[in-house]
Amino acid sequence: MLEMTGITKSFPGVKALDRVNFKVYEKEIVGLVGENGAGKSTLMKVLIGLYKHDDGEVVLRGKTARITDPKTAAQKGVGMVFQEGCLLPNLSVAENLFLCQEGHFKHRGLISMREMVEEARSQLARVQVDVNPKTNVRDLSQACRQMVEIVRLLWLSNVAGVENPILILDEPTTVLIAEEIERLFTILMSLKKEASIVFISHRLEEVLELSDRIVILKDGRNMAELKGKDAKIREVQRLMVGHELAEEYYKESQQNEPGEKEIIRVQGLEKRGFFKPASFWVRKGEIVSIVGVLGSGKEELCRSICGVTKTDAGKIFINGKEIKIDSPKDAIRAGIGYIPSDRRDEGLALQLDVMSNITLIVLKEMINTGIINLKREKKEATYWIEQCRIKTPSLKTLCNNLSGGNQQKIVLAKWLAAKVKVLILDHPTRGIDVGAKEEIYRRIRMIASGGIAILLMSDTLEEDIGLCNRMLIMKDGEITGEVECPPQVKGETTVLMR
Ligand SMILES: Nc1ncnc2c1ncn2[C@@H]1O[C@H](COP(=O)(O)OP(=O)(O)OP(=O)(O)O)[C@@H](O)[C@H]1O
Ligand SMILES: [Mg+2]
Repeated sequence: MLEMTGITKSFPGVKALDRVNFKVYEKEIVGLVGENGAGKSTLMKVLIGLYKHDDGEVVLRGKTARITDPKTAAQKGVGMVFQEGCLLPNLSVAENLFLCQEGHFKHRGLISMREMVEEARSQLARVQVDVNPKTNVRDLSQACRQMVEIVRLLWLSNVAGVENPILILDEPTTVLIAEEIERLFTILMSLKKEASIVFISHRLEEVLELSDRIVILKDGRNMAELKGKDAKIREVQRLMVGHELAEEYYKESQQNEPGEKEIIRVQGLEKRGFFKPASFWVRKGEIVSIVGVLGSGKEELCRSICGVTKTDAGKIFINGKEIKIDSPKDAIRAGIGYIPSDRRDEGLALQLDVMSNITLIVLKEMINTGIINLKREKKEATYWIEQCRIKTPSLKTLCNNLSGGNQQKIVLAKWLAAKVKVLILDHPTRGIDVGAKEEIYRRIRMIASGGIAILLMSDTLEEDIGLCNRMLIMKDGEITGEVECPPQVKGETTVLMR
């Protein structure tokens, strides 16, 4: 149904796509995988007309297609849900669904809100999404927002009279929790009756579960293609990364013994409505993870330690000395680093280049008699680019122009370079490819053994158990348990979270 051949696309300094071929058949789910920077998002952006390709051909439903922008794409039945989402938060669900399409509900020059809401209701019901069309998008969960976007794309191709549209989902599951993912999958499976789906994800189990076919890109080229039901995770990993990965890449055996000294102590920290008075400490070189389901309050707790969220009560001590944290600046000054999960909003200055982002915080240290030592800054940035395997054409490339996963790595590099005392990691490996994940685990261990206290919230329980020395269990805003975490406790902890 769709055939892209010889697609080539260069950006200044990089060939993002090099003669890539990509097909989508009717009513199938295609998994699109590859390392960070492999070209997945770029290929899809070419398809919907956000990027213009330098060379190659797109044939859609038997005809050469000239798609110049997402609107034309939608009219031809091709739509993409972006990871960042692109709904307008201050408008209602119904308004978002029919944005720029209000004409369909116009009678004698007047737009009938009632009709719009009714249509929204029936469209949402078609994919069994239970949201009120009058709700503001701002008040919806990430999962619901995605659904609204999917419904919007289906509706657009429907009114354009296209059957079997193509729906592209770029890392849709990174912002979802387990139940929401299951729900999304059920919906996608049922949508297969009427649409084809391109599914991009770094969670290979998901890709294998869902896809009829898996297309693997590497360095902007076609690497391989596998049938979904025949594919094995390790095979896909090997093809993506180009070499075998270690069997157990969390490597519990490499766990370090933490020191005795307490680096950070939190005492009775409280934010009403989010978490109850919490007390705990992290020692020198220790990795402590906070586990709990979404809504357990762990995110809020961590965010208040690094000054992003204000608290109602409680104290924080660093090296035995009480510190006041009213803003992220205070936290940085006290030596607390925070790597947020939402890299685009909080983690990066997207309009600055790679080097400036990495050295943003250390810069003060580098200022020598009022002049920034450019040579040192370069050296420092280059070092971290290598360490974190950041794929960038140059130090001067704007972060905005890097692939999603590489942006995430830069946030990590920034804090590692900053030599903090405490590092709070909020889902550090989200959206990062398997090869780099291995690297990041090794890094986290290394910085811990360098004496930094690490507070971790991770993507999966295996990751928590594999990495940390101790786990704090959080439930309904309260720390309800604590588990020492030598390698052998695997598997017992899920029970405690419920
Ligand atoms: N707007 C842009 N300007 C310059 N370079 C870009 C731009 N968009 C992407 N690139 C580069 O093209 C390459 C492919 O990026 P792309 O975003 O397609 O990767 P990806 O496979 O989606 O990776 P990830 O898994 O990290 O999201 C990267 O090297 C990236 O730096
Ligand atoms: Mg991408």
